[in-house]
Amino acid sequence: MSRASLPADDRTILVTGGAGYIGSHTAVALLERGHHVVIADNLANSSSQAVDAISRLTGKPLGFAQVDLTDLEATNDLFTSFPIDAVIHFAGLKAVGESVEHPLRYYRTNVLSMMNVLDAMATHEVFELVVSSSATVYGDPEMVPIPEDAPTGATNPYGRTKLMIEQMCGDLALTDPRWRITLLRYFNPAGAHPSGDLGEDPTGIPANLVPFVMQVAVGRRPQVQVFGTDYATPDGTGVRDYIHVIDLALGHVAALHRPDNGCKTYNLGTGTGASVLDVIRVAGHVSGVDIPYEVTERRAGDVAVSLADPTLANRELGWRADRTLEMVLRDAWRWQSRHPNGFND
Ligand SMILES: NC(=O)c1ccc[n+]([C@@H]2O[C@H](COP(=O)([O-])OP(=O)(O)OC[C@H]3O[C@@H](n4cnc5c(N)ncnc54)[C@H](O)[C@@H]3O)[C@@H](O)[C@H]2O)c1
Repeated sequence: MSRASLPADDRTILVTGGAGYIGSHTAVALLERGHHVVIADNLANSSSQAVDAISRLTGKPLGFAQVDLTDLEATNDLFTSFPIDAVIHFAGLKAVGESVEHPLRYYRTNVLSMMNVLDAMATHEVFELVVSSSATVYGDPEMVPIPEDAPTGATNPYGRTKLMIEQMCGDLALTDPRWRITLLRYFNPAGAHPSGDLGEDPTGIPANLVPFVMQVAVGRRPQVQVFGTDYATPDGTGVRDYIHVIDLALGHVAALHRPDNGCKTYNLGTGTGASVLDVIRVAGHVSGVDIPYEVTERRAGDVAVSLADPTLANRELGWRADRTLEMVLRDAWRWQSRHPNGFND
């Protein structure tokens, strides 16, 4: 099924973590497709201004509940307060380094939130779910591009929470044939809404390369740190599969139109890679700023190359990531230059 041929769909979708980076862009894509959207977020890593921006950009109202999903009663209340037909679950914590320092915080937030969402869905007989997973579940991949059936083996608590979430979903789907659960393993989401009024607004030091580079370009940080130039890659720096957040958002819309039941896993990536130095160079080109960087030691846990094999999502979901690295960085720069301090501007 191609994207253009997706049927009109006015179902109500609960978007957990929808005030966050990927969730907010997905909420825009859902509203643009005709869905009703309810966001549940405790705003631990986001702002209600993102919810306002979604409504402004789409010209549509949406529901918002400030809820901590580690609270089962509050999670159940969502399903009695709103006529929810399906759920997209983004809520969680995502910083690898922080997960090493505070593993229990990660297990509690990520695993317990998922358990509560699954529990509340079963109680209220809502059986359609799309879940954020991550390429981090592949650990140090044996081959690239990585297909979905490659061995998994996370190397940090964050990645292990994602594996546990995947396993819980798989186990639950076996208990009732009505479950339709889609696990989406994202590669490296980046970029922003092309309006420049919705984007990634990390608190503290950005853990991801693109927001870090953008904060250097806009003058908030002095230079980019390049963690290692001795990897087995063409320029020695790490190669990643940067996927535009709009393409990623559309992947979730496509997943809601999966025809079959059961639990299935898809990679969402472009299948092409860019090195750290490529990102710095293209970001310099689109911003017109000469971006300073320094080379430092490798960072523990980083792999040389991570690239998606997106064939399965292309074939079965009719989805493809079309946007280039230049588009990713142009849109990221538009957002950053219009809002140097994120939603605080
Ligand atoms: N951004 C990436 O690079 C990336 C890559 C792979 C997977 N993911 C996954 O995608 C999902 C979304 O990531 P993102 O980049 O949008 O992160 P984000 O931090 O911007 O969004 C996550 C949202 O979840 C909310 N949240 C956290 N704990 C909560 C709780 N207990 N109850 C309710 N809400 C809670 C936060 O306030 C935030 O708004 C996460 O599950 C993340 O692990 C992200």
